[in-house]
Amino acid sequence: MNVVVVGSGIAGLTAALHASAAGLRTALVTKDALGGGCTALAQGGIAGVYGPDDSPALHAADTMTAGAGLSDAAAVGVLVQDGSTRIAELIARGVAVERDATGMLLLGREAAHSHARIVHAGGDATGAAISRALLERVREADIEVIEHALLVDLLTDGVAVHGIRMLRRDDPVDLHADAVILATGGAGQLYAHTTNPAGATGDGIAAALRAGAAVTDLEFVQFHPTVLAGGDAFLISEAVRGEGAALIDADGRRFVFDAHPDGELAPRDVVARVVARQAALQGSPVRLDATGIGAARLAGRFPTIDRVTHERGFDWGREPIPVTPAAHYLMGGVVTDLDGRTSLPGLFAAGEVARTGVHGANRLASNSLLEAAVFGARAADAVGRRRPPSVAQPVSSAAAAPPPLNDPQRSSSERGETKRAPRGAQRRVETSRPALQHLMWDRVGLLRTPDGLAEALDTIRSFRAASSAPTTRAEHEDANLLLVAEATASAALARTESVGAHHIDRHPALIGA
Ligand code: SIN
Repeated sequence: MNVVVVGSGIAGLTAALHASAAGLRTALVTKDALGGGCTALAQGGIAGVYGPDDSPALHAADTMTAGAGLSDAAAVGVLVQDGSTRIAELIARGVAVERDATGMLLLGREAAHSHARIVHAGGDATGAAISRALLERVREADIEVIEHALLVDLLTDGVAVHGIRMLRRDDPVDLHADAVILATGGAGQLYAHTTNPAGATGDGIAAALRAGAAVTDLEFVQFHPTVLAGGDAFLISEAVRGEGAALIDADGRRFVFDAHPDGELAPRDVVARVVARQAALQGSPVRLDATGIGAARLAGRFPTIDRVTHERGFDWGREPIPVTPAAHYLMGGVVTDLDGRTSLPGLFAAGEVARTGVHGANRLASNSLLEAAVFGARAADAVGRRRPPSVAQPVSSAAAAPPPLNDPQRSSSERGETKRAPRGAQRRVETSRPALQHLMWDRVGLLRTPDGLAEALDTIRSFRAASSAPTTRAEHEDANLLLVAEATASAALARTESVGAHHIDRHPALIGA
């Protein structure tokens, strides 16, 4: 049996390590250099260690509440039951988590968690610590690593998936395998403002859509409320609010309490919308006041944020800093069962690319690293239990590219349910990526209206109609973003009621913060 894992965040690295440990011949394909992607940027921690008055059941309840009733209870059950094993595994693999003087794990609390159950490493650099440790283990393992290879498409025979086509230095190369595990992350680059890195262009979701895999819940995009305003989006972790920082309006008033009794620690979607509305009302970004925490504690607990805010000219220990929301996490994605199996035989998915059902309409803070570790491991373990399909070919990175098996111009879904679409015309891509990103931000963002969504969908379809079969990496990414944008806008249009992160705004005059 051989397996190709696509993506080198926590889901992909965990899957590759489990696959290799199970004796599978394992290739790990990554778009940029190993260690790029969202995981290494994650400032929040990993939820799932339970103090004396906490339990998996309470963590499950918080997860279901955040998911606004749309989480899958079985998937949440798996998350909280497997969570501590995966966290112990991460520690055993070398992640230096924070402990108190007696050696006990230090547990933090974030918005919408009823208890302190979040483990951190390196203050606000948990993702980087996880990424570093897992990369070391991957380098030691018998895993073929292929860097700078963009996923172009899944190789299918119309029924099952038998490998991937990738673009290496602008050359298409096919890699055949008995199973493919997608761990390609999300699609934050759909939006003009995002915490995601440049590579988050929805490549795995787009490839799954083109191959005919079920994809759903794309309307549920989580916007983080506090990104440093101005310049490249830089996240100011929710943990800063967990430590006591307050969101204030132009008059210095804590305005979030007007909308929710939990104030700054209300569910993330509530805080993000209130922040956007307040900024629109006052005509300037709201501010995050962390001065009460004290400069020394801020520097010790949040070394990365402390460094970057100072580099950007803000002395956050002494003055409130301007913050604004940004696209952060995609709850929807490729539909999987509890073992990462998608609707296509041979195709598995884990991490942000997957829709396991854990997050429902809104993800609970610090559940994403946990979900990726839990379901990355389960997907690889499930591949290990499979019998090799008779048509499978050996993994090869040198195969010549046959004609496309999947049409890159296939259209997307009606409201999340994936359908194969007719072949499109072979024309050049004329849409600029910023035009799409601003359209998505304005019309398919935090605050949506039916008219705005319909207009966005029409415009995206006209962009797609004017696009051609991609050849370069940038063109493939643009095509992927357009396809995922179309699926996202149609899913958002079809869901007429507000739920979780999907918010149909009744006061459109306030949109545009
Ligand atoms: C944050 O640190 O605020 C982000 C954590 C998360 O997205 O779970």
